Amino acid sequence: MAVDLLLGLQWGDEGKGKIVDVLTSDYDIIARFQGGPNAGHTLEFDGQKHVLHTIPSGIFHEKTINLVGNGVVIDPVIFKKELENLQKHNIDYKSKLFISRKAHLILPTHRLLDAASEASKGKAKIGSTLKGIGPTYMDKTGRNGIRVGDLELENWKDKYRALADKHEKMIQFYNVNVQYNLAELEQEFCDAVDTLKELQFIDSEAFLHRAQKEGKTILAEGAQGSLLDIDFGTYPFVTSSTTTAAGACTGLGVAPNQIGEAYGIFKAYTTRVGSGPFPTELFDEDGETMGRVGNEFGATTGRPRRCGWLDLVALKYAVQINGITQLIMMKGDVLSGFEKLKVCTAYNYQGEKIKHLPYNIEAKNVTPVYTELKGWAADLTGMTKTSELPKEFNDYVEYLEKELQVPIKVVSVGPDRKQTILR
Ligand code: GDP
Ligand code: IMO
Ligand code: MG
Repeated sequence: MAVDLLLGLQWGDEGKGKIVDVLTSDYDIIARFQGGPNAGHTLEFDGQKHVLHTIPSGIFHEKTINLVGNGVVIDPVIFKKELENLQKHNIDYKSKLFISRKAHLILPTHRLLDAASEASKGKAKIGSTLKGIGPTYMDKTGRNGIRVGDLELENWKDKYRALADKHEKMIQFYNVNVQYNLAELEQEFCDAVDTLKELQFIDSEAFLHRAQKEGKTILAEGAQGSLLDIDFGTYPFVTSSTTTAAGACTGLGVAPNQIGEAYGIFKAYTTRVGSGPFPTELFDEDGETMGRVGNEFGATTGRPRRCGWLDLVALKYAVQINGITQLIMMKGDVLSGFEKLKVCTAYNYQGEKIKHLPYNIEAKNVTPVYTELKGWAADLTGMTKTSELPKEFNDYVEYLEKELQVPIKVVSVGPDRKQTILR
């Protein structure tokens, strides 16, 4: 069986958590392949809301195996809190949550390094979630990291000490004011490692190969979005992992020719949290309305998300890079009540109209060129069938399909599992 992918096509927070949860009933295994607790994936069902950071979004389904793949970076402290939340809801995670031995660990000093690095940048800061993501991936590619499998070795604490001592020197090098009590942080870390060790550590690439051979269905769950990809995103205002399709290959050990469907998920408009360019960003009442109606606050940091119109230039780019085969459009309900909707179809760039993402998309270089479409007034949140949806909504979806040349198979009209319409 091929491995399917679910990928965010914008700057994250497209609604991946909700859709993975919806799709999970069709899969035996849900596998996260990159990122770490910088992610915040929200699921809503039975009147309850859950936010997951590292744990895959299939965890609430009884029989599905959830795998944290080798490409993920794990903070045991945050992981422990996530487990405690699952326990509160009587989720028997021990039998169905597996962790790759090759996943890297976020140490307390990685978080401190993140804070020091951001503080040293002043106004040029990335707007990181400060979860230690950048420093941990730096240690991974620098070949200094500590992996989950190391926790099974007797000397893991020696390795830890050597790395943490080096980090302390690096923090001093930044020469910024970062307050911390390392002894306390380390105690918390060691306690959380003990909890993590109660879970099943596995050689996940072998596990997945076997599962494939047995005909099991596998969905790879992405975190962040294509425009935050370390190579193809709006560098340096990106995260430190490969958020695009190729990341699923390296982050799980799945060969490229084993990829099946690539589901691409996007909001009917655009949001971004943190710093960096955002050509269609709105600073007016329309942007304020999207933020308010869409409840656009970061699921990990609570920061307000910046809002703007849909950017088709950026979306086409993401569809291409990922080889998207089916699209899923989220939060259409948030656009109800706008008389006119704008979609960016090109950029004015250095006196020229262009239809691709240029190297530098800073606001001073790029002005969006918009096409206007008719809005709709009806509240979509109670609708369950395409036939109920307003004509203008269907026109909006069909217009996007034509532009993107990929079918939009699902539209989401509210945060709940049930507010999902198949087309
Ligand atoms: P993720 O990081 O991609 O999983 O997305 P987040 O959970 O960070 O952000 C998506 C937010 O939108 C969450 O608060 C969801 O509950 C909410 N949401 C998801 N789909 C819809 C939708 O169709 N309509 C509305 N109004 N909210 C949605
Ligand atoms: P999900 O999976 C939205 C953003 C941060 C910052 C930049 C770098 O919920 O879609 P990092 O913590 O990685 O050093 O931050 O990336 N960012 C996200 N924005 N959703 C996310 O994840 C994000 N994860 C990181 O705001 O701009
Ligand atoms: Mg999120």
